[in-house]
Parts: sequence; C-alpha cells; structure tokens
Amino acid sequence: MNAMSPWWASAGFWRKTAVLVTALSFIVLIVLTLDSMAQMTAGGERVPAYSVINKRITYVEDAAKGHKVPAIGDDAPLFGKAVSEEDAEALVSLGKKTVQAKNCMNCHTLLGNGAYFAPDLTKAWLDPSWGNEAARESLMLAFLLDPPGNARTFGSGRKMPNLGITDEEAHGVIAFLKWMSSIDTNGFPNNFMPMQQGE
Ligand code: HEC
Repeated sequence: MNAMSPWWASAGFWRKTAVLVTALSFIVLIVLTLDSMAQMTAGGERVPAYSVINKRITYVEDAAKGHKVPAIGDDAPLFGKAVSEEDAEALVSLGKKTVQAKNCMNCHTLLGNGAYFAPDLTKAWLDPSWGNEAARESLMLAFLLDPPGNARTFGSGRKMPNLGITDEEAHGVIAFLKWMSSIDTNGFPNNFMPMQQGE
C-alpha cells in the first residue's frame, strides 16, 4: 500500500470485511433455520400436532389477515376412534409415505408442490365435493380404494386411476389429508371455499 491510497483500498480492510460478512451471514442463517424448523414442526402454532385428527377442523375467515385460516374445534375423531398422539403420528406418517410411494404429486399438488393435472390436495379434507361432514369419511375411503368407480371428474373428464391402495393405507391417507387441512398455509390455495360447515 502506498501513502496515497485511502484506508478502504487496502487488502487488509477487505479481508476483514469478507470475514465479518461471512460470519454474520452464517449467524443469520442459523437463526433463520431454527425459526423455520419451529414453524414447520408439528405441534407448533402453524402446524398442529398430529392428534388434531381427533378434532373437528373448519376453515374460517380471519378479517385481520384477510384470508381464511383453519380452526380446531370440538372432538370429532377420525372414523369415530380417538387415537393417542403416537398413534396419530403413525397414521399420518403411513398416509404421507403412501402419498410418496404412489407419487400422488405426479398429478396433484400438496402444499403447492406437484403437478397440475388434478386438484390441489392441501385442503381436500374441506372440499365441498364430499357433500357434508357426515358423509365425507366414507366417501373418501370409497374413492381412494376405487377412484374410477367413484369418479366425480368435475366436468373435466379426467379420472384418477386405481393405485392399489390398501384399506389401511387409505385410512392413513385420510388422516394425512385431515392433518394437512389444519395447517395454516397463509390462505393457500387462494380463494378456496370450504364445504358447508354449520355451527
Ligand atoms: C394419474 C393422476 C393421478 C394420480 C397419480 C393421483 N390422482 Fe387423485 N385425482 C386425479 C384426478 C384426475 C382427480 C379428479 C377426478 C375425480 O375426483 O374423480 C383426482 C381426485 C382426487 C381426490 C379428490 C379431490 C377433491 O378435493 O375432491 C383425492 C382426495 C385424491 N385424488 C387423492 C389422491 C391421492 C391420495 C393420490 C396418491 C395416493 C392420488 N390422488 C393420485 C388424478 C390422480
């Protein structure tokens, strides 16, 4: 460095700056990662614990946020059978693994990820096409076990193929879909209207 160069033109200054910026970015990244993990983990504020499948889930307008948010209500166990937190996790996990193994994302989107051939499944549990809450579980089960035989197609002419899902796997998929519908997705999918919910 000659005497004419300003202080900020020295190699030493830029070396220190590089080290400092890298160290600060690293800390910010760790904080953001921990924050994201807390937001994503089941049992948090946004993603309820798996035992939420024992409760009634509705979708209600939040005036402050300007979109609908899931609301967790009274007891409404899936298929009339209340399960422990561990059993709920096992059931939801079986459903998730089935969804992965059968590659549902080849046609559907889940939480926005996947393909656009078939409806988004994020709020499928609350979809008006199941008619009403009393009929929903048996209709979903019948549909998953024999989609072509119970096709609705919604005027699109598209049919879901039979994916050879077992009865046990179908119960898991329904638990997974119910749990997923309870996740606060910031109003995604946009403008989704739930089935008639009553009081
Ligand atoms: C080859 C494409 C394809 C694959 C793979 C597929 N689906 Fe579908 N699915 C469809 C189509 C098309 C529809 C709409 C037609 C209908 O409901 O009969 C549909 C409808 C649905 C519905 C009803 C959605 C609603 O809101 O009413 C559910 C639930 C569903 N699929 C679940 C699944 C699950 C779970 C898997 C994986 C195990 C899966 N699908 C794999 C094509 C597919």
